Amino acid sequence: MRPAVVVRGLGTCLPATELDNEELARHLDTSDEWIRTRTGISARRRIAPGGSVRDLAVAAGGSALRSAGRTTADALVLATTTPDRPTPAAAPEVAQRLGLGTVPAFDVSAVCSGFVYALATATGLIAAGVADSVLVVAAEAYSRIVDPADRATAVLFGDGAGAVLLSRGTPEEDGALLAFDLGGDGSGKDLIHVPGPLEQPAGERWFTMSGRKVYLRAVEEITGSALKVMKDCAWSPGSVDALVPHQANARIIQAVADRIGVPQEAALSELARVGNTAAASIPLALASAQAGGRLRPGARTVLTAFGGGLSWGSAALVWPRLTPVSTEI
Ligand code: UT7
Repeated sequence: MRPAVVVRGLGTCLPATELDNEELARHLDTSDEWIRTRTGISARRRIAPGGSVRDLAVAAGGSALRSAGRTTADALVLATTTPDRPTPAAAPEVAQRLGLGTVPAFDVSAVCSGFVYALATATGLIAAGVADSVLVVAAEAYSRIVDPADRATAVLFGDGAGAVLLSRGTPEEDGALLAFDLGGDGSGKDLIHVPGPLEQPAGERWFTMSGRKVYLRAVEEITGSALKVMKDCAWSPGSVDALVPHQANARIIQAVADRIGVPQEAALSELARVGNTAAASIPLALASAQAGGRLRPGARTVLTAFGGGLSWGSAALVWPRLTPVSTEI
């Protein structure tokens, strides 16, 4: 049996600069009304020109350590698909800047499912005996890869980071990760992608997404994946207190909640303030929901994500008593 792995701390970091829908509508053929009603987003944060995803990751990771009352971790896993540099992975530098020493550290590339994939990977590191504690960070700056002139994508994404500190514990403790489900389908590789050098000349390699197709597939896979972890935990839909889906679209969150049959108030939509922050969206939503009193210690909680690859995944836990630390840079 794998050892129990427990969430001990939660931290976030958002860039201080906010861009609201009205501001976007001044430069794009869009409107506050379209963006709010089609997506649920009112504003998003933007990394400063010359700003760094590694800075966001260090700030969120440090916040998670403080939230857990710790100064060290035995390993670091960083979920990002918008790294400052293609090579090397950002994680070793983030670990070094956090004072973690020469711990194993690497990036996970699973687009918007990155946080759930990184959680499962970190759990595996603890199960393998490589580490007793792992800092899991998700940090993104999609504003760097979306075409600012493309209304179909520029309005959706925001920048930000979130992190959790995991360590070995017992299955009875609140915060223990009770079940995982991960999935992928490479036949959908072109539905969400940034072209490579062989496909597009430099300067034209923007993020593209087949919105409608992704929407339909996301509802299907998130629903199926969340139901699998609920079944593993023997949780009925009515007994789930918090469903925390990847924050891409409020209508997706609503549709998934309806299909699974969880109470509407259990489905946490925290999109309005920060938009779609890709891998960072689940930890940012967790911190915001807890601050707003919508996520309480003891809550039966299902995290579920869908993104490019295609990739998807879910995790289940009983939410622990902790105090998130939120920062801005
Ligand atoms: O994070 C990874 C996973 N991603 C997702 O899960 C995203 C899934 N997809 C979605 O959330 C939605 O498909 C979008 C929000 C991206 C788009 O919403 P939609 O309701 O599916 O719109 P659509 O793409 O079908 O477009 C409907 C219309 C089109 O105009 P016509 O062809 O009907 O005249 C678009 O050109 O809306 C138009 N449109 C816009 N209009 C105003 C697209 N973007 C905008 C915009 N402002 N920003």
